[in-house]
Amino acid sequence: MVSRPGGVCGIVSIDNDRMELADALRTTGAVREFTDEPVEDRTIYEILDTARFAPSGGNRQGWRTILVKDPQVRLGLRDLYLPGWDEYLAMTRAGLVPFAPVTDREAEAEALRAATPRGRGAFADNLHEVPVLIVVLADLRVLAATDRDLDRYTLVGGASVYPFVWSVLLAAHEHGLGGVPTTMLTRAEPEVRELLGVPDHYAVAALLALGHPVRRPTRLRRAAVEEFTTLDRFDGPNFTH
Ligand SMILES: Cc1cc2nc3c(=O)[nH]c(=O)nc-3n(C[C@H](O)[C@H](O)[C@H](O)COP(=O)(O)O)c2cc1C
Repeated sequence: MVSRPGGVCGIVSIDNDRMELADALRTTGAVREFTDEPVEDRTIYEILDTARFAPSGGNRQGWRTILVKDPQVRLGLRDLYLPGWDEYLAMTRAGLVPFAPVTDREAEAEALRAATPRGRGAFADNLHEVPVLIVVLADLRVLAATDRDLDRYTLVGGASVYPFVWSVLLAAHEHGLGGVPTTMLTRAEPEVRELLGVPDHYAVAALLALGHPVRRPTRLRRAAVEEFTTLDRFDGPNFTH
């Protein structure tokens, strides 16, 4: 426990801090609708300044961010986002888990063949108008991707960047903002690199959309601990208390 001056008051305030953190973790849901209120550069800076304390393998901090303000570049990002989003919707409508590393590729291909782009939603269509757009890149030279030599889809490299992405969302929440991490741009990584002048050894990790929320979700749908935790073995009893 952090020691603070102030006797009983200090202890109470520590408890409050812990409550607030748990509250934030439980209520930072995806926000895709924003008011017109702009977000000041100082606020964006402060959010990134807090998020930079995220962990990464070997503390290499391989994230790199580009704050995109130029309207033409924003439109370019929107245009590169939409095809991936259309694919996502087509696969969802076909009852598939879009882009799952372990999946039925034939069923995916069929879903894409049969799809007609429709009902993208206002967020995707108007992505270029989101108050804050931040592209998050990952420096492939410094990621500790310990699973890179396994004969399966690799996963661990992203774990050195996505905690940072999540920290941006939590820090934004603290500033009264909301947002959503998006990954559709990775479908068009070469074009994104070209649009933003990104060197080849950087991967596109996410596009973060932030702004003042029209409304904030408070009750998020998530599985209970018992549903994803077992004792001792994968097929062990569900963990509960
Ligand atoms: C790695 C990752 C990628 C995501 N990509 C997208 C995306 O491309 N577009 C989008 O609208 N939402 C995206 N999301 C947001 C998720 O859809 C959202 O976090 C999830 O559905 C939970 O929503 P909720 O917080 O409203 O319950 C992404 C979230 C994560 C963590």
